[in-house]
Amino acid sequence: MRLFADTAHLPDIKELASWGAIDGVTTNPTLLSREEGEPEKILYEICEVVQGPVSAEVVSTDWEGMVQEGRRLAQIHPHIVIKIPATIDGLKATRALSEQGIRVNMTLVFTPMQALLAAKAGARFVSPFIGRLDDISSYGMNLIADILEIFDHYDFETEVLVASVRHPMHVLEAARLGAPIVTAPPKVIRQLIRHPLTDIGLEKFLADWKKLQERLK
Ligand code: G3P
Repeated sequence: MRLFADTAHLPDIKELASWGAIDGVTTNPTLLSREEGEPEKILYEICEVVQGPVSAEVVSTDWEGMVQEGRRLAQIHPHIVIKIPATIDGLKATRALSEQGIRVNMTLVFTPMQALLAAKAGARFVSPFIGRLDDISSYGMNLIADILEIFDHYDFETEVLVASVRHPMHVLEAARLGAPIVTAPPKVIRQLIRHPLTDIGLEKFLADWKKLQERLK
């Protein structure tokens, strides 16, 4: 399973990349609005750190505008993937950009049928937002299972990129379902490595080793 960092915060991206933990990055207008500086410069810097896809989202809502914006964003760096919302204009723009060899990540996907249409339009990735479904008392992980099952029947090149991840259990469940990619906030990625028994165990090993060294003096 590939793990992407869902953030535009460069220090976090650098830190996670140094662990060998991340294979890509996803950003969106909200995440970029939290950072200081020019969004396009930030995106370029992220691309230089991460050896994998970096999603940059369009803010136009008409398909011609999305295509224009997507083409411009794609010029920032070869790692850039264009994030396009799951709307009718989004489908048209996805088709046009994909035909031009520009990879699209169809975002704000909340139903299996949106994912199916995204795949038909040529999206390279689809991003179902599971946390936001959980927020409205709808079990987000069912959406992942449905899309994986549908994609399994056909020959689409589209990969499921599990998004709107809120906690480690989302990552675990997505991995158990065999989702190819999960994008998670840095906080959640850090939670994946932490366990109190690891800390307690390490403390005990070090204390015992110190006692042994003192005995040997
Ligand atoms: O990858 C999409 C993600 O940024 C949305 O997450 O937590 O705002 O629903 P959230």
